[in-house]
Amino acid sequence: MSKITHSRQVRERLSTGVKGFDEIIGGGIPRGFFVAVVGEPGTGKTIFCIHFIGEGIKQGDKNIYVTTEESRESIIKQAYQLGLDFESAINRNQLIVIDALMGRRDDPWSLDVLDVETMVNKIIEAKRHLGFGRARLVIDSMSAFWLDKPAMARKYSYYIKKVLYRWDFTALLTSQYAVTTSLGFGFGIEHVADGIIRFRKIIVKGELKRYVLVEKMRQTNHSNRMYEIEIKTGSGMIVKGPTIYRREDVALPSTVTTRMILSELQKILESTEPENTD
Ligand SMILES: Nc1ncnc2c1ncn2[C@@H]1O[C@H](COP(=O)(O)OP(=O)(O)O)[C@@H](O)[C@H]1O
Ligand SMILES: [Mg+2]
Repeated sequence: MSKITHSRQVRERLSTGVKGFDEIIGGGIPRGFFVAVVGEPGTGKTIFCIHFIGEGIKQGDKNIYVTTEESRESIIKQAYQLGLDFESAINRNQLIVIDALMGRRDDPWSLDVLDVETMVNKIIEAKRHLGFGRARLVIDSMSAFWLDKPAMARKYSYYIKKVLYRWDFTALLTSQYAVTTSLGFGFGIEHVADGIIRFRKIIVKGELKRYVLVEKMRQTNHSNRMYEIEIKTGSGMIVKGPTIYRREDVALPSTVTTRMILSELQKILESTEPENTD
């Protein structure tokens, strides 16, 4: 294929399954992209990922969901509440949920050690098991793999992308690390990601509200606005209209941000301290 045809090619996009979201990113996530889904706990990252896999099931894709913070049962239950039947997809061999929380010997799709290489190998094994074809991958969350060694986050992320790139995955990788650092000082996957979707929560007049903002999506003229989202039993997550808030309005005060950055730096320094050789 010549270079010119390649650059003119329209990239295939995968629907996220979240009502109102695809429109923000020009129709969906470009096939083959590795997208970071970041935000504090309880902002909706897992729900978003479950929708993405649910849509994959509907479209006949192969689907792999790695869960590190909840058990497989919990993910299946959560999906069921959103009207998505993960159990039959598993039985039809269209979905494999790799349980990295409850490592059990009698369960071939669990991880007995929380280690990046073990996980990557298990994902490849799962993909082989599901067979050829367009595939969706969720790793929820990546933070668990470098909790005790934040300095490795970037290296691991790079490794994951490099190895899994060849397997026709379009992937969502969640992380709670990049908390509101408006200075753009993120840790880990953001550096290698083709896209960054950030979820936020704020309290407005005594009520918790959730928002989503696309911070980056390569090859895409995406919206730069922040959108309010809603999560409901049955229908799940939907994107409502853009907000009147600007990004700055919900950023943490700079003193807080600075303190967070200093504490992250401290962790990195501690984990890279040279060993005492005498
Ligand atoms: N069935 C449901 N109906 C209504 N809201 C729900 C339902 N399930 C989850 N939620 C909302 O979603 C939130 C959790 O979102 P989640 O995606 O797990 O967050 P994160 O993964 O970012 O920590 C819950 O706190 C709750 O408010
Ligand atoms: Mg979660």
